[in-house]
Amino acid sequence: MDRVVYVDEKKEAIQELSFALQDTYEVIPCLNPRETVSLIKKYNPKAVLLEIALRGYSGFQVLEDLQKLPHPLPAMVISEHIDPLFVVRALKTGAQDYLSRPYTISMLTHRLKRLIASSAPKNLEKGEGYVKRPLSIHKGSFFIGTSPFIQQVRELVRFYADSHYPVLIQGESGTGKDLVARMLHFSSYRAHGPYEVRNVGAIPLSLLESELFGCEVGAFTDARQRKGCFELAHNGTLFLDEIGNASDSLQAALLRVIEDGEVRRLGSTTSIFVNTRIICATNKDLGELVKKGKFRDDLRYRIAHLVISLPPLRKRKEDIPLLVEYFLRNSAFPDASISSKALSFLQDYHWPGNVRQLRACLERALLLCQGTHIEVGHISFE
Ligand SMILES: Nc1ncnc2c1ncn2[C@@H]1O[C@H](COP(=O)(O)OP(=O)(O)O)[C@@H](O)[C@H]1O
Ligand SMILES: [Mg+2]
Repeated sequence: MDRVVYVDEKKEAIQELSFALQDTYEVIPCLNPRETVSLIKKYNPKAVLLEIALRGYSGFQVLEDLQKLPHPLPAMVISEHIDPLFVVRALKTGAQDYLSRPYTISMLTHRLKRLIASSAPKNLEKGEGYVKRPLSIHKGSFFIGTSPFIQQVRELVRFYADSHYPVLIQGESGTGKDLVARMLHFSSYRAHGPYEVRNVGAIPLSLLESELFGCEVGAFTDARQRKGCFELAHNGTLFLDEIGNASDSLQAALLRVIEDGEVRRLGSTTSIFVNTRIICATNKDLGELVKKGKFRDDLRYRIAHLVISLPPLRKRKEDIPLLVEYFLRNSAFPDASISSKALSFLQDYHWPGNVRQLRACLERALLLCQGTHIEVGHISFE
């Protein structure tokens, strides 16, 4: 049986966890956080679980100690403290996952399984230590901007990329949510795994369950065997766009998969474990939707463990010249230029359609000036 070390000063917490894992792992209790490293050397465990709020010697220090090991072990924090600052700091200090109390046995075993599975490729990659990969979007597109907002978004992407937690990306339409979702996937150790995208509002109710969970032959008339998107995205990322449009039944189904980490194809009697990272995006205020009774609070809580908010373009106008430059260089007219008057004109506008609108506006202007020099007269905001 594989071993895991569990660091917690509370005997009851250790008992509870040992009980939860009795059939799957041997739990090595560590009541004194300072002894974590020596226990690891002695027992050679597959992972470390720890409480973050320890007296005297904090969980963060334990995480730092783990980083100094020649072969860092995957670590998961289990805590009642779910303050985002705690979570971010723990992930930044080297934890791969953060499970909040109270947990269920299936939640715990699932997350632990995923934690151990995910650490394998990473350790192989470079032998030791955390490898900082460059942020990547793939397909030659870049995430442009130097405003503090955008720098912060980049930081968060870096912290969150390798975590298993669902990420919620929120922001007005055209602010770059798709781009950030791709960046999260392609900067993570999952980059070589699948990246599946579904627009939640666009899945017809009748196809919903088979789309999500897949189905077996004969599950319903004419049913053929197929995988659902959770399964298709195994070892990769599933990006659920426009999550605010999810119907009641979709919300219930999502909650089930996120909590259990398992899917069952329609017409099947067995569940399949999936290691799928979920990213959701919305241009709606989910808090408002919850208040209006249109979105489940428990689901919001699950999908919004980690949140990235993209500011509207009008709040980071200093990024406009860079974006303009970028879009011109990558247009059909890479030698085109823009007058400084036209540029200030663009900077003065409030951009309700954000970066998408800016891009379209430049494309129109380029056509009007026939790819030479953009003047104010070539600009329209339609
Ligand atoms: N920071 C950025 N740098 C470069 N291109 C961007 C940036 N933000 C958005 N875009 C571009 O603007 C368009 C809209 O972005 P998208 O990610 O689809 O927005 P959303 O999903 O929020 O509606 C896309 O063409 C995208 O490539
Ligand atoms: Mg989008």
